Amino acid sequence: MLKRIQDLETEIDAIVINNGAEAESFRLAYLSKKGKVSLLFDEFKSLPSEEKRTVGQVLNLLKRKAEEKWSAAQESNDSNQESDYDASLLQQIPQGSLHPLKVVEDELVSIFSKLGFDLAEGPEIEDDHHNFGALNFADDHPARDMQDTFFIAEHVLRTHTSSVQVREMERGQPPFRLVMPGRVYRNEAVSARSNCFFHQIEGLYVDEGVSFTDLKQTLYYFVQQFFGEGTQIRFRSSYFPFTEPSAEMDIWAGLDTEENRRLTKGTGWLEVLGCGMVHPNVLESCGLDSKKFSGFAFGMGIDRLTMLKYGISDIRDFFSGDVRMLQQFGGL
Ligand code: PHE
Repeated sequence: MLKRIQDLETEIDAIVINNGAEAESFRLAYLSKKGKVSLLFDEFKSLPSEEKRTVGQVLNLLKRKAEEKWSAAQESNDSNQESDYDASLLQQIPQGSLHPLKVVEDELVSIFSKLGFDLAEGPEIEDDHHNFGALNFADDHPARDMQDTFFIAEHVLRTHTSSVQVREMERGQPPFRLVMPGRVYRNEAVSARSNCFFHQIEGLYVDEGVSFTDLKQTLYYFVQQFFGEGTQIRFRSSYFPFTEPSAEMDIWAGLDTEENRRLTKGTGWLEVLGCGMVHPNVLESCGLDSKKFSGFAFGMGIDRLTMLKYGISDIRDFFSGDVRMLQQFGGL
C-alpha cells in the first residue's frame, strides 16, 4: 500500500492546473468521495492495526498535499480574475446627486446658522404629548381628528415639526436658538399641490426679552437671503394653539405673469410660513418659567419653497423616483 501511495503522490506532483475547470476536475479525480485519495482511505480502514500507524501518517500527508495543490490553484485562479478587472469602467458609473428637497433644506439651515441657529432633529413617530398636548391643543381640537392625523396604535406620525420644539425645550433651560427640519405626515388627499407627507423646517428662539420685533427681523433676513434682496413681506394675523399672537407671513411675488396671478390667486402675495410668540402654556408645559422667558417660533414647508424656487408644479414629482428629475440637480 505504501508503494501505491508513493505512486499516487508522483502522479499528483506531475499535474499542472491551469484554470478553474482543471482545478475542478483535479478535485473530482483525487479529492471527491470517489477520488483516488479517498479510495485509498477506504482501503486503509481494512488494514491490520500494526500497519495503520505508518500508512496512516503517509496517507494523511498525501491528502494534505493534494488539498493544498487544489486550493493554491483556486487562489491563483481568483487572482487571475482580478487582473481581468478593468478599473476604468468605474468612471462610467453615473454620479448621484442631492435630492432638491435636501438642497433647499441645507440652504435654509445654512441661512439660519448665520444668525446663530443650531440644528436639531426629532422622531417622525411621536406621542400625543409632543405633537399636541404640550403644544396647547385642546382635547377636542380638530387637528387631532382621524381625518388629519395618521395613528399608529397609541402613537401618531407627527403632523408638524413643532413637536421637536417641545422635545428640545424639555431638555434644559434657555437660551434655545434652533432650526429643526424634517418629514411630517397628514392624512390629506394627494394632488399636485398636497401630499400625505411633506417636509417642514421649524425655528425656535427662546430667551429673556425675545420680542415680536426679533421674529420679524429674523424672517426679513431669511427672505432677503432666500428669495433675493428687496423681496417684500407682510404679516397677517392668524391662529395656532401654540403661539400667541400668531401670524402668517407672505412674500410679494407680483402680478406680472400669468403664473404669478395663478399662484397668488390674483393677490400678488404668496403665503410662506406660520409663526408667532411661543404661548406661555407651551413654555410652562416644557418646564420653563413663562414670567422670565419669552420666545418666537415659525414653521414653513420645504416642499413648497422648493417648488417655488425651481418652478416645479407637481409635489408628487419629488417622489416619482424618476432619475430625470434628479439629473436636473447635478446628477449625470
Ligand atoms: N406647526 C405649524 C403648521 O404646521 C406651523 C407653525 C410653526 C406655526 C411654528 C407657528 C409657529 O402649520
